Formats: sequence, structure tokens, C-alpha cells
Amino acid sequence: MRIVIFGGGGREHALAWRCVSEGHEVHVAPGSDGIASDATCHPLALSDHAAAVALCHRIAPALVIVGPEQPLVDGLADRLRAAGLAVFGPSAAAAELEGSKAVAKAFMARHHIPTARYVRVDSLGAGLEALASFAGPPVVKASGLAAGKGVTVAESFAEAELALRSCLEGQVFGAAGDTVVLEERLQGEEASLFVISDGERWLCLPPAQDHKRLRDGDHGPNTGGMGAYSPAPVCDAGVLAQVELEVIAPTLAGLRAEGRPFVGALFIGLMIEQGRARVIEYNCRFGDPEIQPVLFGLQAPIVPHLHAAARGDLAAGGVLPGMPAATVVIAAAGYPGKTVSGAAIRGLAAAAALPDLKVFHAGTRHSADEGWVTAGGRVIGVCARGPDLRAAIARAYEGCALIEVVGGQHRRDIGARALALA
Ligand code: AMP
Ligand code: GLY
Repeated sequence: MRIVIFGGGGREHALAWRCVSEGHEVHVAPGSDGIASDATCHPLALSDHAAAVALCHRIAPALVIVGPEQPLVDGLADRLRAAGLAVFGPSAAAAELEGSKAVAKAFMARHHIPTARYVRVDSLGAGLEALASFAGPPVVKASGLAAGKGVTVAESFAEAELALRSCLEGQVFGAAGDTVVLEERLQGEEASLFVISDGERWLCLPPAQDHKRLRDGDHGPNTGGMGAYSPAPVCDAGVLAQVELEVIAPTLAGLRAEGRPFVGALFIGLMIEQGRARVIEYNCRFGDPEIQPVLFGLQAPIVPHLHAAARGDLAAGGVLPGMPAATVVIAAAGYPGKTVSGAAIRGLAAAAALPDLKVFHAGTRHSADEGWVTAGGRVIGVCARGPDLRAAIARAYEGCALIEVVGGQHRRDIGARALALA
């Protein structure tokens, strides 16, 4: 079938690659130079919803997938659906679960979904007062969209206060930080679970684990994700059963009851401790880089399910089978702070020649005179699969060794936690 994918990052590259490999005709808008090697790209500003509708009318796809959160929160899926298209991606009303952490926390409280205790504050005075109600330093979150950078896992009350002040006094996240969620710090292992839903029924993808911190051993600042692997053994069958019962079912039913059924990919960020999961956050789309190993390792077609979800007739149940896979992200110098574009990238062709390996482009650019150069914080995801996780990770690092991103940085311990468990 003909498919249009909106977005242009590593997630959209992985989606495009997957759809092409399942035999479909794929168009990506705006896409990227990297994505253009797998699918047809169409320049477009994602904020221009009229242009997005016009493009779809021209291409006449059987399925439209909206990748990133911002256009979803802005209502792109609603607009496309109103134009008569089969859209995989939630309405703005359903995407609010990601667009506002305060809304998401209130939703979880209303529907008795296990999560950390929290206080919502809209002023510095209220925030300082609320700080005192926590036994240990709380996690401080700008409520709105902040490109994954609005969360401070404070090690001390002083650090929590600083984060509070930078949201409510310094406005470092703009309007996204006008409301702040303070929440109890959870302990355990994190996992990312992607749930495909038609608003009522659901299907899970193999659980994944992200590596949020910049440096090895989970040190350094939080990032959008420095690497990921799947399946994540910490999210075993017992945990999945609990999550389906206590999280997925009430979340989808709650949204439906509130008149905003969730059609698309619900990303549930979980914290798992002693075999029980609690929700850290919801996102309204696939996570990146986690979706890279999930899609690269998948052993069954996904497109029929995305299409069924978009049409409202998903066949219920279960987890799609996947083989072990891992992605190592190479980020530009300076990431997650300010990065410089235009640094040379070499060795992509050599890495691409390795079997069971695929490089997904997140922030690159190509021109005849410069070749491949960096054009973003996270530059590429080096993704590999194998008969077991150890082999997949080894292959991904083999690829990394062949690639040079000038000034680039990557972690050397992606998947190490899962290997230690094995
Ligand atoms: P979020 O954007 O809400 O996913 O937060 C980013 C990261 O901060 C998460 O992936 C966790 O690593 C960490 N985090 C967020 N909330 C909590 C919490 N309540 N307890 C412990 N860590 C958290
Ligand atoms: N890797 C986490 C996210 O996509 O939000």
C-alpha cells in the first residue's frame, strides 16, 4: 500500500525503512537526506497543516503515520482525519497526555493508574511550599513539551529548588515551564512499552530500554536517548500482564470515556521495581531511539496493524514477536547542549556493508561537495540485530568502529544492564 509518514528524525527513518521492507510505497515529509536513501521525501514544514493535507491529497495514501509529538499535540492528526484519511496518530485531545504532564498526572489519579505521588504547582511560592512535603528530593518537571529536557532528577533539595526556579522564575522552558510537576522519585529499572491502539483494542511491541543519560554508567545529563535495546528482560511476561491490566486497559478506557479515544502509538514509560511497574510518563508516539531496535528486530509485519488501528478494526491482543536488537546513538559534540552543525561523518558505506546492521539518520545532511555532515544533536543510530542481545550489541559496536563523526560522542555500555541480567 501507499504510505505517507510525517516527520524527519531517526524514528521516521526506522518507520520508513520498516514499511519499505514490508513491501510498501513510502513517502516521508519532510524526511531527510538520510531517509531519502530508503523512501521518497517531500519538503514541508510540519507546522503547515494545510500543506500536509494537500500533499496527502496528491499522493492518496492508504495510511498516514504522524511521527513526532509536536504536530500531534498541535492537531495534525485531527486535520488529516477530517480530510478523510486513515491516520495512525492520536488527536490533539488524546495527545495531551504527552503535551501536559500535569494533565497526564491528573488523568492517572482519576483512573487509579499506578504512578509516583505528585504535586502540581503554578507559582514559585507554591513550589517552594510543596518541596517541603517530600521526604526526599523530588523530580522536577516542566509540564509542557521541552524536547525531553524539562525533567530534573534532583539529587538534593537545593538542586530541586534550582530547577523549580529555572522553570518558574528563569522561564528557561518558556510557557512549557509555567506549570511544574513535582513528583516522588521512583526507584527501579526503566522500560519503554509501545502500545498500538485503535482507541479500544491494543497490541504491544516488544518492550525496550532506553539509555537517557549522556555518559556510561548512567552518568551525565539527561538526553533524548543515547541508545536502546529490545526486548528488555526487565519487562517480562508477569510485568506485561500487570501493565495490561492496571495501565493499558484503564488508560485506553479512560480516554475513550473522556471522549478522546487514543488511535496511534501510546508510549508508556515504566519504572519497574520488584516485578511491579509504575508509570513515569505517557508519550503519544513511538520513542526514539527505542523504536529503532524494536522495528529492526520485529519478526512479523507491523504495517497491517498500523493500518487496522487507523481504520478502527485492530484485532486484539498480545505482543508482536521480535528478535534481539540494539541501537547505539552517536551524538554531535556539545550534545545535549548547543551543538555545531557541519562536522564531517565518514564510514557510513563501510558500516552499511555489515550484515544485520542499519544506520538510521537523525541529524545529518548530505551534499555533493561536503558529503555527509552533522545537522543536529543526535546524529545517527547504529542499529543491529542478532541471535541474542550480546551478538546484536557487538554488531552495533562493530558498525560504530567503522564510522567517524568528527567530535562525536557515544556510550560504550548500551545494553550492559541486560547482559548482566542474562
Ligand atoms: P520523562 O520526560 O517524564 O520521561 O522524564 C525523563 C526521565 O527522568 C525518565 O526517563 C526517568 O529516567 C527520569 N524520571 C522521570 N520521573 C521520574 C521519577 N518519578 N522517578 C525517577 N526518575 C524519573
Ligand atoms: N527516547 C525517549 C523518547 O523518545 O521520548
